[in-house]
Amino acid sequence: MASLIHILGLSIWLFLASQGSKSAVSQKPVDIVRGSVYIDGGSSIGMIDEDFICATIDWWPPTKCDYGTCSWGNASLLNLDISNKILLNAIEAFSSLKIRLGGTLQDKVVYQFRDDPGTCTQFVKDSTEMFGFTRGCLPMSRWDELNNFFKMAGANVIFGLNALNGRTIGSDGSTAGAWNSSNAESLIRYTVNKGYTIYAWELGNELSGNGIGAKVAADQYAYDVITLQKIVQDVYRGFETKPLVLGPGGFFDANWFTKFIKGASNSLQVVTHHIYNLGPGISQGLRDIENI
Ligand SMILES: *[C@@H]1O[C@H](CO)[C@@H](O)[C@H](O)[C@H]1NC(C)=O
Ligand SMILES: *[C@@H]1O[C@H](CO)[C@@H](O)[C@H](O)[C@H]1NC(C)=O
Repeated sequence: MASLIHILGLSIWLFLASQGSKSAVSQKPVDIVRGSVYIDGGSSIGMIDEDFICATIDWWPPTKCDYGTCSWGNASLLNLDISNKILLNAIEAFSSLKIRLGGTLQDKVVYQFRDDPGTCTQFVKDSTEMFGFTRGCLPMSRWDELNNFFKMAGANVIFGLNALNGRTIGSDGSTAGAWNSSNAESLIRYTVNKGYTIYAWELGNELSGNGIGAKVAADQYAYDVITLQKIVQDVYRGFETKPLVLGPGGFFDANWFTKFIKGASNSLQVVTHHIYNLGPGISQGLRDIENI
């Protein structure tokens, strides 16, 4: 049965800055859509979970600037103010909000362990480095704080692991060698020992297809996902519910994804991919809203 939804004169109020002057802000209704949408309600092709809303907390430090602005401020996993009640309430209100922890720099993060508190250094801006920053470190004390916060907020945490660890990276971004899982395994073991619940472990960020900065071949990536699943099965042995294994969290490339999914088969529980239909968020209209 096909139902018809008329979208008539859907007007959205946008706050538009008048040309030339950012301070002179006017309110104008803008007609965005006028048309008809037909929905075949009788044959669904897929289902979404009830808690399908998802947000990301990234790693970018305050010194990350592009498109003429340093927009990240203290929004990183490493410096976000998690004692902020408004933030806590906002996340709680979704019950549950899926929060993915990751982004470009996740593949340059090392997890701090035991004997090396002195060497847990933060990302430093360096244009000669891939992604414009040196490696950074996640102190376990911060990991503790984050987990306590997410538990209080009732969030489902999806953690993006560093998938470049151990690989050799060529000047064209191609990589050689297998994922070295040892640092990730330490993090997973630590997390389990502390009793923190992780909804899913995801391997890598935007390394599929041609990659962003670096790329990993599909068959190698599949092999590495199998390694991650083995670690999860081992560390969570005896647990009724085990975290899911996700990947590759990158841009879709039909050939790459076909090979990858075939290769990883049973070890991969959720296929993730990134889309930027709205671009990088640099449209002037968006900026003007942001500046109000
Ligand atoms: C980020 O936090 C630091 C330390 O609390 C503070 O000095 C700085 O002003 C903050 N930056 C922004 C953009 O809020
Ligand atoms: C993986 O990394 C660990 C820690 O840096 C290192 O001790 C180990 O030798 C590496 N494993 C391989 C196979 O390179």
